[in-house]
Amino acid sequence: MTLIDDVGLAPLPADLVRVEERLNGSVRADDLFLGDVAGHLLAAGGKRLRPTLALCAGYAARGAAAPATAAVVTGAAAVELVHLGSLYHDDVIDEAETRRGVPSVNARWSNIVAILAGDYLLAQASALAASLGADVAALLAATIGELCRGQVLELQHLFDVTRSEESYFSSIEGKTASLMATASRIGAMVSNVSADSLDALTQFGHHLGMCFQVVDDVLDVTATEAELGKPTGNDVHEGVYTLPVIYGIARSEELRALLGRKLEWPQVTRAVELIATPDVIDASMTVARTHATKASEALAGATELEPEVCDRLRTLVDGLVQRSS
Ligand code: IPE
Ligand code: IPE
Ligand code: MG
Ligand code: MG
Repeated sequence: MTLIDDVGLAPLPADLVRVEERLNGSVRADDLFLGDVAGHLLAAGGKRLRPTLALCAGYAARGAAAPATAAVVTGAAAVELVHLGSLYHDDVIDEAETRRGVPSVNARWSNIVAILAGDYLLAQASALAASLGADVAALLAATIGELCRGQVLELQHLFDVTRSEESYFSSIEGKTASLMATASRIGAMVSNVSADSLDALTQFGHHLGMCFQVVDDVLDVTATEAELGKPTGNDVHEGVYTLPVIYGIARSEELRALLGRKLEWPQVTRAVELIATPDVIDASMTVARTHATKASEALAGATELEPEVCDRLRTLVDGLVQRSS
């Protein structure tokens, strides 16, 4: 995945190293066991998309000639910690065995350990956010609430063949786009931009997040197990009926009859065949591309933002859409 290498802003690699140092400092705990568990997925990698968004929002505000300010680096670390904590909890919810190419925390230790360490990461994120002021802390708290809302809404529609597009969009807005929007907004908030630029960068992050999740959901039915690091059709197996599944159900009676219950893997494979038709994938990718376009358009109105940085951010969104092909 070359997503972030493609951004091509001079200070970004070194600033991401500073974020990494901040993250490593944050997961340390007096209790060595807690520190080990909290550091497990951090050490395993990840794309660092959310910190990248926070840093880029800072460059958009102040130019990309100089390193990010300490406040932007702190904000970038805070949003990654929220993401990380949510992954610990998500893998408990989804009973996932692996994450970032290593055993998930729940698989390696236990659900209880994963829940507590996830809580610890969210607490560390909150402490970093509070160091940036009450507005940032309030925004991050509200965003954690949004992540929960999105996840709960998804849970309420597991194995639901009548799940609507609106319900799906509302869920991914909460579980994915809200944190991308917040990452971008925090980078801007601590860089003293105008209200218009703040909103532009927030909207950019929101649409990027919606695009990202739709593409992720398409890949679940189009990519190979080797590419995904989990079986193709894993969402279908778990009963998470994402946009391509919803579109597939509308087009295939056989699919509608097959879904609605826990399937054995050969049936999942049949369901994936019925979902991953050119028509369904095109319709889903049209939604992803619409969000990519809206992300670009959000930046167009914000004339005080650095044009070069805005161009790079557009390239980043294009890279997300390309990920699917
Ligand atoms: C995974 O996010 C969870 C989703 C929102 C689909 P990422 O794909 O950004 O995960 P990492 O951080 O690179 O591991
Ligand atoms: C990821 O959701 C968790 C959050 C966005 C909070 P998913 O369950 O859809 O993603 P993966 O496939 O486990 O990364
Ligand atoms: Mg999951
Ligand atoms: Mg999940």
